[in-house]
Order: sequence, then structure tokens, then C-alpha cells
Amino acid sequence: MTINQFNTQNLNVGQKLAIKYFSVAVVLFAAQILFGLIAGLQYLQPDLFYGVLDFNVNRTVHINAMIIWMLYGFIGASYWLLEDETGISIVGIKWGHFSFWLLTVAVIIVVLVYLFIQWGPGTDATIWFINEGREYIEAPRLADIGIVICMLIFFYNVAATVSKGKVTGITGVLTLDLVALAGLYLAGMFYTTNISLDQFWWWWVIHLWVEATWEVLVGCIMAWGLITTLGASRKIVTTWLYIEVALMFGAGILGLGHHYFWIGTPEYWFTVGGLFSALEPIPLVAMVVHAVYDSGKHGFKSNNHPAMAWLIAHAFGNFFGAGVWGFMHTLPQINLYTHGTQWTASHGHLAFFGAYATIIIAMFYFAVQKWRGGVTIRGDLVDSGWKWKWSLALLNIGVMGMTIALLISGYEQSQIERAIGGSTWLGYFQAQIHPWFVEGLVWRQIMGYITALGFILLVWDLLTIGKKEPLELESKVA
Ligand code: HEM
Ligand code: HEM
Ligand SMILES: [Fe+2]
Repeated sequence: MTINQFNTQNLNVGQKLAIKYFSVAVVLFAAQILFGLIAGLQYLQPDLFYGVLDFNVNRTVHINAMIIWMLYGFIGASYWLLEDETGISIVGIKWGHFSFWLLTVAVIIVVLVYLFIQWGPGTDATIWFINEGREYIEAPRLADIGIVICMLIFFYNVAATVSKGKVTGITGVLTLDLVALAGLYLAGMFYTTNISLDQFWWWWVIHLWVEATWEVLVGCIMAWGLITTLGASRKIVTTWLYIEVALMFGAGILGLGHHYFWIGTPEYWFTVGGLFSALEPIPLVAMVVHAVYDSGKHGFKSNNHPAMAWLIAHAFGNFFGAGVWGFMHTLPQINLYTHGTQWTASHGHLAFFGAYATIIIAMFYFAVQKWRGGVTIRGDLVDSGWKWKWSLALLNIGVMGMTIALLISGYEQSQIERAIGGSTWLGYFQAQIHPWFVEGLVWRQIMGYITALGFILLVWDLLTIGKKEPLELESKVA
């Protein structure tokens, strides 16, 4: 029996760079899960690692690792598809490799800073070395600058390649999106002592990333994925992409207002934020219809079943996590009761996993397929394919389970702390010790272990799938 080893000669120049990004992404994903599990345990046993590895540090590592592994995933995905789409080799690829190492060194420094340097006076000088305190983008200022340089190099690689090669709907949208994606990061770097102002700009980064620019980016990846794995019609896929982008930006930009209800901004944000963010699920519905339509049209026949399954998981995860779970608490009348409770964490977990983790995992499967020389990964795998199916199931059940558990805790908080307790200090503590709250967090932990198990299987599968499969380079879709 032949064994297909990983061989970079099977990859084009951009794809060789992409697998570097994907590899770091997997490592950071592991870190995210590990620190999530520790933070979750600390909810149940507050004195665990107290003074050694505090909750705030674990939480910071958990969510920053997530943002960064997803960025690695997106950069990798863009490099992966760029040469196929433009028909030419990537312009300035050396810079791409340089920025990969720069970013990776910056990330290592950031993690060390998070873990070890969390003390000392907060002065203008320490901003260079300590956590900046802006949730999700807490990197110290020096690393911020490194990250911006990397994003600019990445943008240059993409824009220069697209303008020199063939411009398709996918690469055109991708290039324009990256202008916004890189530019937004700057909004989170202003230094101000006014916390309302700080939050005002910080939300530009976070909200406009996940509810505008990242959504458009995954729209591009999805479009490419459907063409690649199903052989879907480029014309139809691109038309959908334009519609989704228009709707996403149309609702998402002013939807920003749903974060301006309670931070001291003018009252008109109640109306603007409530209205536009309530419209945000519409493009997400369009994305589900689009993916299911294309898959159905091709009888769900693909040349890479795990990738296809994760693309479908993305379409639904995005719709439920962002659309349904987001809509639930986006009207100010409701957000008054749910703001900052576990309800928010419930939405945060399902949205980030459902919308973004899923589609990057799909890219990992595209990558290993080609890296092994273009194997077909269908239902009839030599080693039966139990690993990818079980990891798909465990990861989705785990995250969905955490989501439901957190929703129950959040529901209890909004009832007991907010509605009955009137948002008082006493109400807060009554809610924190209520059995429904505590049990929700116990279940979050149990479901967290299931998620972690799914992740371990995923890594194992990525390292082994397709090893013994026949090479079928010609028949793209079967
Ligand atoms: C993939 C897209 C999305 C992701 C990844 C996402 C993620 C998140 C996260 C992590 C938070 C918590 C932020 C914090 O730590 O304070 C949050 C808050 C929020 N999200 Fe989303 N979200 C997405 C889409 C949406 C959509 C489409 C809506 C509305 C329809 C929405 C409505 C909200 C609201 C209202 C809050 C504030 C919650 C509060 O007041 O505590 N989100 N989102
Ligand atoms: C594997 C098990 C996991 C556990 C035990 C876990 C646990 C936690 C904990 C304890 C927090 C802090 C919540 C708080 O401050 O109240 C948190 C926050 C968060 N986690 Fe996880 N997590 C896990 C996996 C994930 C995954 C897979 C994702 C997404 C891909 C994710 C995304 C987030 C986000 C976005 C936040 C911030 C939520 C907010 O501010 O509302 N986590 N997680
Ligand atoms: Fe938002």
C-alpha cells in the first residue's frame, strides 16, 4: 500500500507559506482551549492557582489566543487561495515569510508578557510592556506595532498579486476587505484616559472586525470553498458574495450601536443600534441558503467530505451563533437585562466557534488534502474516517453544550440579579450563588472537556487523514 507523506512540493509558493500559518494556528487553538478550561475551573474553584495563574490572566490568554489563531487562519487561507485565483505567483513572497516570523515572535513575547508581567505601576512608560487592557487586543504597544507591520505586509502581498494577476470577484472583494481589516486595527490604538472614549473606539475594532470585515473574509473563503470542493458555478457563487457583502456592511456598520447603549454615548444609539443590528441576521440567513443551495445542487458530492462538512457547520454556526444568539440580546429593551451576563458569553462562544473556527478548520482539511499530493477524502476512506466524523461531532456538541449551559446561567442572572434584584450588589451575589447559575457553569466545564476531546481528535486526524488514500488528481469532484 502506498503512503502519501506530507510533501511541500505538492504546494505552490503561497500554499507553502499558508501551512506555516495554519500550523501556528493549531498550536494557538490548543492554547485557547487549555486556558479556557483552566479559567472555567476557576469559576468552580476560585482559589485554584490563586496568585500564581490568576483568572484574569487565563481569560486574557484564552481570548487573545483565539483572536490571533483566527488571524493566522485567515492570513493562511488568503495565501492558500491567492495563486489559484490570480493565476500568478505571489508578489513579494519573501516579505510574507519575513512577516510570518515577525508576527510569531511578537505573539510569543505577548504570551510571555501576559503570563509573567502583570504587575507594577501603570504609567505612560509601562504601556510599552504591559497588557493594554483592551479586551481581545490586549497586546503591549510594542507588539501592536509589530502586528500592524505584519498586516500591512500581508495586505501588500495580496493587493500586489491581485493587481498583477487575474482579478476575480473573490479576490477583488478580498482585497477591498483587507483595507478595512488592517485599517480598523489602528482605531484600537489611540491612547486616552477617558474610558467611554476608549471603549467607543475599541468597539470599532472588535465589532467591525467580527460583524463586518471578518464576515466578508469568510464569505470569500466560503465562495472559494464551494467552487473548489463542489465545483459550484463561479458566476452564481460570486453573485451571492456581492449580495452578502452589501447586506453585511449595510447592517453591520451601524449595528455597532448595540455596544453604545450603556457607555455614555448619546441616546440616539438606542434606535440606531437596535434597528441596524436587528437587521444583521439577514445576510447570515442568505449565507445559509447559499451554501445549502450550492451543496444541494451538487447532491452534496464533494472531493473533500470533512472540508465540506465544516463549511456547512460554518453556515449554520454563523447563523445560529451570530444571527440567532446575537439577535436575542441586541434590542436595548432586552440588553438592559442581559448586558455583560453569561448570556453574552454564551453568544460569544457560539458565534466565534460557529462563524470562524469552523471555516478555518475546513481550510485545514483543504490544506492536508493537497499537502499529501491531492488525495480524495470521501465517505469511503481506507481507515473509515471515524476520526474526522467524531471530532466534528464532539467539537460541535461540546461548544453547543457550553452555549446552552451558559445561556441557562445567563438567563438566571438576568432574572435574579437584574429583574428581581434590580441590578443591586445584593442581587448580583444572590444570582452568583443560585444553583441554576452554578450548575450551568458545571455543565459548561463538562462540555468544555468534550470540546477539548474533539480538538485532540481533530489534530490527530489532520496529521493522519489521507495517508493511505489513492491519489486522484484529475477527478476534482466525485
Ligand atoms: C460572527 C459574528 C459575531 C461574533 C464573533 C460575535 C461575538 C461577540 C462577543 C465575543 C461579544 C462579547 C463582547 C465582550 O466581551 O464584551 C459580543 C457581544 C454582543 N453581540 Fe455579538 N458577535 C457576532 C455577531 C453578532 C450579531 C449578528 C449580533 C446581533 C444581531 C450581535 C449582538 C451582540 C450584542 C448585542 C452584544 C453585546 C452583549 C452585551 O451587552 O453584553 N453579535 N458578540
Ligand atoms: C474548551 C472549552 C472552553 C472553556 C472551558 C471556555 C471557558 C471560558 C471562560 C471561563 C471564559 C471567561 C468567561 C467570563 O469572563 O465570564 C471564556 C471566555 C470566552 N471564550 Fe471560552 N472556553 C472554551 C472554549 C472556547 C472556544 C472553542 C471559543 C471560540 C472559538 C471560545 C471563545 C470565548 C470567547 C469569545 C470568550 C469571551 C466571552 C465574553 O467576553 O463574553 N471559548 N471562555
Ligand atoms: Fe457587535
